[in-house]
Amino acid sequence: MANQSVSPTGEAFALPQEKDYAAEMKRLEGLARKARAEGKEIVVVMGVGFVGAVMAAIIADTVDKKTKKPSKFVIGCQRPSTRSYWKIPVLNRGVSPVKAEDPEVDPMIARCVLEKKTLTATFASDCLTLADCVVVDVQCDYTKHSLGNLRTGEADMAALEATMKAIGERVRPECLVLIETTVAPGTTEFVAQPILKKAFAARGLKRPPLLAHSFERVMPGREYVKSIRDFWRVCSGCNPAARKRVVRFLTEVLNTGQFPLTVMDRPIESETTKIVENSYRATILAFLNEWSLFAERNGVDLIKVIEAIKVRPTHSNMIFPGPGIGGYCLPKDGGLGFWAYKHILGFEDQDALFKITPTAIDVNDTRGLHAAELVRDALRNMGRYIAGARVLLAGASYREDVGDTRYSGSELVVRKLAEMGAEIRVHDPYVDHWYELESQDTYPAPGQSWKRFFRSQDDLVHVRVEKDLKACLKGTEVLVLAVRHTPYLGLSPDDVVKWAGGPLAVVDCFGILSDDQIRRYFELGCEVKALGRGHIQRIKEEVRAKRK
Ligand SMILES: NC(=O)c1ccc[n+]([C@@H]2O[C@H](COP(=O)([O-])OP(=O)(O)OC[C@H]3O[C@@H](n4cnc5c(N)ncnc54)[C@H](O)[C@@H]3O)[C@@H](O)[C@H]2O)c1
Repeated sequence: MANQSVSPTGEAFALPQEKDYAAEMKRLEGLARKARAEGKEIVVVMGVGFVGAVMAAIIADTVDKKTKKPSKFVIGCQRPSTRSYWKIPVLNRGVSPVKAEDPEVDPMIARCVLEKKTLTATFASDCLTLADCVVVDVQCDYTKHSLGNLRTGEADMAALEATMKAIGERVRPECLVLIETTVAPGTTEFVAQPILKKAFAARGLKRPPLLAHSFERVMPGREYVKSIRDFWRVCSGCNPAARKRVVRFLTEVLNTGQFPLTVMDRPIESETTKIVENSYRATILAFLNEWSLFAERNGVDLIKVIEAIKVRPTHSNMIFPGPGIGGYCLPKDGGLGFWAYKHILGFEDQDALFKITPTAIDVNDTRGLHAAELVRDALRNMGRYIAGARVLLAGASYREDVGDTRYSGSELVVRKLAEMGAEIRVHDPYVDHWYELESQDTYPAPGQSWKRFFRSQDDLVHVRVEKDLKACLKGTEVLVLAVRHTPYLGLSPDDVVKWAGGPLAVVDCFGILSDDQIRRYFELGCEVKALGRGHIQRIKEEVRAKRK
């Protein structure tokens, strides 16, 4: 229904009406007045999504270093869209709107909302009039128009631009505006600042806005809060006053004693830091794709190669790429830089300059297709076909031991296998709903699902993530081990074959199987294939030779 917003647990909330705004502002004014009387600063966090909800709670949990009393009152402001409005009433119950594996998230949100009463959420953007500081945590996506071609895509600036306009029209001129969204380099100075200045001029305000940038380095998983609060930050301001204010603010709310700030001269430098940091990671992962194929075709186990290299301290952060490089950031951030070079900074030689960053993301975006080829080939070696085969994909999230499915390589594997006619089941101990499949017609936005790059996708809306591995293995012809979730590491081949009801094809996408496990699968009559692990053929021949 258009006038309600449904939470992931299925609870429906009616969207606010025009008449609700005045009462809501009255509530917020009362809370802000009380907080100010207690000496607290009022902070508005725009966007209470994955990052904003937790950042809001961290700020609300802040205490004055001397008095040890809470020093901030936080208003999380969220637009009342059908997709996101539910986050407001849920947060106001003291319940986290984001599902996190970090045990610190839920109690911190409950504590700030219910006990300390330093955190509330609202749909009324007029709350911006009350702010001493605004933190912007809305999304800035990069839309790709074809699979494996980043160059034709574009940054989606709509949410950020709308937020900046709302801020410019409402904030007091001395309010600090801090953009934490990952943006295309140049956005703070050349997109956001003009919007604020224009809005200030229309209000007859003479002073320049206090605009700053500091990006998030959030890592989903058990260290979610720590990755925001107890981690190094980079920041900058559009002018010396803004720089001074952002340093003060971050020093108050984050653990900068142990994790000192890096202060850059200009926002374009801190924006570029984020984009280069993530493009670097995306690039070393993409580079391993060619060596992964090399390894498969030449009897080499890339997993062992990487372990051997990692003993060198200079190379210790090398990681195997798995079936794709997901998460919200690595697939898009390089695109923001590529796009900004032309569309914000005005250069025409985008394609000539950028060779590596777009290619790296294109390679990462399509790596999962090869995992589907391995499934096909493993079945072929057993005299079977992919069409109609019962496939169990183990692991829907983009990395081990988290429930975040955004842009996971697993999605690409499933979509390609569905296109080739496989019957798909999915298991994941951490994911309750795989919205990229269940809600593929509307998520991440209508017309934006990877569904559009494949045929025969409609049935995937019926896929449900299962939790009982033993039960869902029954009758399975192919087990795709897609993510290094802890429960998958020690799986006994004897159990898997017993639960499946007979020999099956096992495809390892993430260096999950030990050589002993691989050997045992072959002894049990299974077929094994793996991304980047060419030595499997050798193990297979050894087992066959022993049988003769
Ligand atoms: N999630 C991560 O792991 C991660 C890590 C590092 C950096 N980041 C960056 O942090 C930023 C936020 O990411 P996220 O994962 O929290 O996104 P998200 O989509 O979960 O949250 C954004 C929220 O902003 C809201 N919003 C949009 N327009 C608004 C408006 N005009 N007013 C108020 N609210 C509005 C949306 O409804 C949504 O709830 C992005 O730039 C992202 O790249 C994310």
